Amino acid sequence: MSGNHVAATRRVVVFDTTLRDGEQSAGVAFSARDKVEIARALADLRVDVVEAGFPGASLAEVEAVRAVAREVRDVVVCGLARAVAADVEAAGEALHEAARSRIHIFVNSSDMHLAHQLGKGREQVVRLATENVRRARHVTPDVEFSPMDATRADWDFLTELVTAAVEAGATTINVPDTVGCARPTTIAALFRHLHATVPGADGVTFSFHGQDDLGLATANALAAVEAGAGQVEVAVNGIGERAGNTSLEEVVLALRVHGSEIGVHTSVDPRGICPLSRLVEQRSGIPVPPNKAVVGANAFRHASGIHQDGVLKFRETYELIDPEEIGHPVGTEIVLGKLSGRAGFRERARQLGFALEGELFEAAFQRFQAQADRQPVVEDADLRKICRPVAAA
Ligand code: KIV
Repeated sequence: MSGNHVAATRRVVVFDTTLRDGEQSAGVAFSARDKVEIARALADLRVDVVEAGFPGASLAEVEAVRAVAREVRDVVVCGLARAVAADVEAAGEALHEAARSRIHIFVNSSDMHLAHQLGKGREQVVRLATENVRRARHVTPDVEFSPMDATRADWDFLTELVTAAVEAGATTINVPDTVGCARPTTIAALFRHLHATVPGADGVTFSFHGQDDLGLATANALAAVEAGAGQVEVAVNGIGERAGNTSLEEVVLALRVHGSEIGVHTSVDPRGICPLSRLVEQRSGIPVPPNKAVVGANAFRHASGIHQDGVLKFRETYELIDPEEIGHPVGTEIVLGKLSGRAGFRERARQLGFALEGELFEAAFQRFQAQADRQPVVEDADLRKICRPVAAA
């Protein structure tokens, strides 16, 4: 994996929303302790912003965000707020003790949402955004604004709404793909459109928030970054509303692999990625699928003969990422099954102390293949039973 070539590249801010949009996953409820522990791990990973929750939702949420703000000092702590006074006040109350705080204001922006959810016209929405961004600026100089459902909104209206938010003092403009309907080319075009049409665009950070309904969230985030976005919103293990959010681990690793080509880097220290993934898996109760990119259990397991042979000769033939670099607890693994070949079998037998050669090796390998036809994985115990009588012969 090519490293993170920091020199002369622009830094992309990593905004983690595991504790807010991640908690919107069906069935997930983090306790205040969970939130503090996860926020601590995120700060240790050196993400830039932790969105700790939605204080307007309940008093318990105010307390949970307050606990994160009080205890996790070395990161910006953010609270979400609708563009209504009560939410902005709740966020202000929750973030009062933070070393550095951000309020994230959002309001619906597509005509569908305005007509069928909010029941307000475009002018009213612009007014709500202006009033509440200003209100938030009285609490903190760091205010993010999101036009919700931006990827289904009219682009001229988005320009008008975002311009109003920038004039009212928003310092980050986040573009949410709320239902995960966008594709990379339209995301890139939308970022270029906003940059070209919003007066003062150079003075604010543009951000992308993706949902994964079509499995395109990471690709869309990369397209946004290539089109100039200075922030990406992500969640650990990609948890979040419905099919989830853009995965932190995917974006961070994709930007490590492609960062020097794109001209960007992040501050994230990848060594904490696997431990953090396990922590979020435990606390959220959402199991990480085995084939999940970067952090899935199979991410560094090799089962087929050709891949095993290659990886044993030179790891990078079939591994893009160095498992050690992301704190993987096991690392590269050779898993024996019916598609495995002699190289993988020889290596695993050797690790168990059976250095078989010539005819003895062939005899053991035939026994292994017969066993592998009967069961999906040939474990160490099976391997010992296969090799011991041959070695003793
Ligand atoms: O998906 C979404 O639109 C959001 C916004 C509040 C950023 O979560």
